[in-house]
Amino acid sequence: MNTEKKKIILVDDNLTNLTLGKRVLQDQYEVFTAPSGEKLFKLLRVVTPDLILLDIEMPEMNGYTVLKKLREDNENFDIPVIFLTSQTDTGSELEGLSLGAADYIAKPFLPPLLMKRIENHLMIGEQKNQLRNWGEKLRKEVEVKTEQVLELQNAMIGTLAELVEFRDSVTGDHIGVTVKYLEVLLKGMKKHGIYSEEIQKWDARFLLPSAQLHDVGKIAISDLILNKPGKLTDEEFEVMKQHPVLGVEIIQKIEAQTSESAFLKNAKIFAGTHHEKWDGSGYPDGLMGESIPLLGRLMAVADVYDALLSKRPYKDPMSAEKAESIITAGRGSHFDPKLVDVFVDAADVFENIAAGSGGRCAVFAKAG
Ligand SMILES: [Fe+2]
Repeated sequence: MNTEKKKIILVDDNLTNLTLGKRVLQDQYEVFTAPSGEKLFKLLRVVTPDLILLDIEMPEMNGYTVLKKLREDNENFDIPVIFLTSQTDTGSELEGLSLGAADYIAKPFLPPLLMKRIENHLMIGEQKNQLRNWGEKLRKEVEVKTEQVLELQNAMIGTLAELVEFRDSVTGDHIGVTVKYLEVLLKGMKKHGIYSEEIQKWDARFLLPSAQLHDVGKIAISDLILNKPGKLTDEEFEVMKQHPVLGVEIIQKIEAQTSESAFLKNAKIFAGTHHEKWDGSGYPDGLMGESIPLLGRLMAVADVYDALLSKRPYKDPMSAEKAESIITAGRGSHFDPKLVDVFVDAADVFENIAAGSGGRCAVFAKAG
């Protein structure tokens, strides 16, 4: 049990009132006195009281001004204040209460009544503190649980993305690397203030992990097509072009079994729109310009850059310079022009990621 005495500051310009008040209160409370508003604020630098008893009529700074100043003060704004006054008109009482005074006691006060009212207000203050502490505890618990759910979700999504990657033997470290490219593009967009309004709405905790599922639709594509050692025929390519739609369907199935999730919403956009092209010649929907969701436009740059630098059964990896020139040439046709500018600005970071990306090291060629 907390046996420490509660602290009360008594503010009054009349010395007799201060002495009398202190005498009444000191058995039960630790009492500090201040003969003016100025002295109170000096005292508050070293003492944090549980309650302030404040005279209204004081020279220079009156009680109302003191209370206003207290309420504007971040440190002391919620200390309960009881006004002590000899004024009896209800107008001033109303003014004090509307300024946020906890109570109003007329002088001369009856000691037992003063004690009882102080006791009540201290009890309310304590309950408020308890509520605040509970709220804080709950907030922390929710934060920990959310973190655990996110960890579990990311682990499961990572595993699902890996399963897709294992089936598609040509993709190498495709998923991990494209997520890193996306991160670089996001940083660049923030740096240059591009699409900042939209970026502000994104929750980074969900965004990048959800990008891992962009090719999840490939899980439903036949091995014969997915791993064909050579270029696909037109018919086979038509099947392959189904993977964005299939991806959206798979994510929708997960969505149907869970509650609303920003993560799955983003994942669906990545999966469904990463093969759309700025000029409308992409698939599956032939969307054009900014009607392609920004996430899809971003993934298009990251995905193509990675594909160009990857070894395929029918092609060697391209040099970084060549890949950069292809992305640049696609400015305004395949890709969002603003995002190509961000890419060009960060091209060396892209090269470094590609050069250090696990299995790609052996096949990554700087030039030629
Ligand atoms: Fe894809």
